[in-house]
Amino acid sequence: MSRASLVAVAATAGLLAISASAHAAGMTLGEFEYLNSCSACHGAKGEGDGAIVQYLATQSLPSLTMLQKNNGGVFPVQKVYGVIEGSEDVTVHGARDMPVWGQRYRARVNESDEDYDFGPEETEAYVRTRILALIEYLSTIQAE
Ligand code: HEC
Repeated sequence: MSRASLVAVAATAGLLAISASAHAAGMTLGEFEYLNSCSACHGAKGEGDGAIVQYLATQSLPSLTMLQKNNGGVFPVQKVYGVIEGSEDVTVHGARDMPVWGQRYRARVNESDEDYDFGPEETEAYVRTRILALIEYLSTIQAE
């Protein structure tokens, strides 16, 4: 097996526990992740009406169903990836309310499988897979 596929297999193994819970709930990994990590702020349907919005500095959240429409009908994969990962700035002024998921997923990677130590490459593959699953889900909730 090539190094690249070994990395992919390891990252997939790390995701298996989450995938199993998603599967048990009859959801895709992205939807499951969204409901767990994003809906408290962005709302169950992505409309910006999550339960904890009132506690944020920003009291109005952009609707995540408008990402494609606001970008001329094309889903802005690169931008959304950057916003979730944390490499793309979301606020021009003031504090960032939106958590930096890239760091969180990176920190969590070795908790998912105590018997296995993820290397830097595997960690990145794991982070990428989780973010791409979210992007895949977000692309399914876009307004026409
Ligand atoms: C603690 C609340 C909170 C959580 C949890 C959260 N976000 Fe956000 N998100 C925000 C806020 C607030 C903004 C608006 C920018 C800002 O003020 O930081 C934002 C902006 C965004 C944007 C940019 C929208 C646009 O129109 O430009 C995307 C995409 C996004 N969030 C996706 C996600 C995803 C996916 C998750 C789950 C992994 C998530 N967010 C979790 C608060 C949150």
